[in-house]
Amino acid sequence: MEIAKCDRPIGVFDSGMGGISVLKELYKIMPQEQYIYFGDSKNAPYGTRPLEEIRRLTIANVELLLEQGAKGIVVACNTATAAAVRILRGMYPDVPLVGIEPAIKPAALQPGHPTILVMATPMTIQGDKYRNLMMRYEQKADIIGLPCPGLMEFVETGNTEGEDLKVFLENLLAPYLREIDSIVLGCTHYPFVRRLIQEIAGERVRIFDGGNGTAREMRRRLGEAGLLSAHTGSGSVKFENSLATEEEIELSRTLFQKNLL
Ligand code: DGL
Repeated sequence: MEIAKCDRPIGVFDSGMGGISVLKELYKIMPQEQYIYFGDSKNAPYGTRPLEEIRRLTIANVELLLEQGAKGIVVACNTATAAAVRILRGMYPDVPLVGIEPAIKPAALQPGHPTILVMATPMTIQGDKYRNLMMRYEQKADIIGLPCPGLMEFVETGNTEGEDLKVFLENLLAPYLREIDSIVLGCTHYPFVRRLIQEIAGERVRIFDGGNGTAREMRRRLGEAGLLSAHTGSGSVKFENSLATEEEIELSRTLFQKNLL
């Protein structure tokens, strides 16, 4: 018997482990759904690759999830969204497909013309999508883009609290700490190191990330398409990884269980 379309899984992917921070938000608000999470750790990082390559990898990830019957897709990677979401929408007009972008809007709309540091991959910061977002909010806030090559690699190896990571973040953030009011986590790997970032930046600095907004947008899109699962019991998560090792799957599960600040 064929499975009803609304009972099919939601496909979620990232260049690696980062998108699990978005998966956590999805699961929080739609716990009855089934999920397939694909991490392309073999090809990570995406954020320092040429645009065409990111597009090719992103399209391959979407195809892989659709072949497994995904009813909708969450591009849980700011870099892949910036590089390819428009192309994907053109290729799959009938699939509910949601991407993630740096949460500059809520950060910029805080009162008092805040100064915001946007941490993201070099590719995201160079892209048109980011430039457009900046232009839309530059009257409301001072926005500083900070490319963070090397940061996602800590999370990819399961290091979210180490002394070496702390030193890396201290060096990265030190030049900005006096002037900023807020930090936007513009890469889905970074919520896993949020606690350390908050510790270094101090309680005064507000941290924003787009995971929850993205999850809510997916719920809205699925609802609109009549594709929300009618199940009342709890759903499930299946982890897949292009490295196809037990270690990667184990790390995926550990990060999924991790309490984020
Ligand atoms: N997690 C990805 C993002 O949200 C990028 C990490 C990378 O592959 O460079 O941008």
